[in-house]
Amino acid sequence: MRPSGPDCATSLPIGSDADLAWVRQQVRQCAARLGFGLVQQTKLVTAASELARNTLVHGGGGHVEITPLDNGRTQGLRMCFVDSGPGIHDLELAMTDGYTSGGGLGLGLSGAKRLVHEFAVDTEPGRGTTVTAVAWVAHVPSSRPGAG
Ligand SMILES: Nc1ncnc2c1ncn2[C@@H]1O[C@H](COP(=O)(O)OP(=O)(O)O)[C@@H](O)[C@H]1O
Ligand SMILES: [Mg+2]
Repeated sequence: MRPSGPDCATSLPIGSDADLAWVRQQVRQCAARLGFGLVQQTKLVTAASELARNTLVHGGGGHVEITPLDNGRTQGLRMCFVDSGPGIHDLELAMTDGYTSGGGLGLGLSGAKRLVHEFAVDTEPGRGTTVTAVAWVAHVPSSRPGAG
């Protein structure tokens, strides 16, 4: 699966609440341009919001890489959240609904995973964390009379 061109491919810093707002806005704009519907746009923005907040709060800041995809059948959007923070020592525990090491709700990682089609966490204690989320535009087949 290859990037579908430079269109809305970008890398954005995550170091402040203002950055989080900008990331949300850019994800929505890119998703809309790629043809995601309103519901899927909102899912992507919600996932991005949670993952970017984790990068900021737990990872001590970092950046997100937003990449448009094209697998030959449909358009997709990949978001890679990267930090060089403390890493996640127990990933299974961190992915559990309701688990938080701080005062959060513990629904960010597990919730974000449910909102996208592909989800991966690459983390190493002491070195940092990269969370990758991918979603694909769902094309509803048109129902033409007499077709198929
Ligand atoms: N980028 C990260 N770096 C280090 N730890 C993280 C990161 N993202 C998540 N975690 C760990 O995973 C836990 C669960 O994350 P999450 O489900 O978003 O809950 P919350 O952010 O509400 O604590 C966090 O409490 C934290 O311990
Ligand atoms: Mg969180």
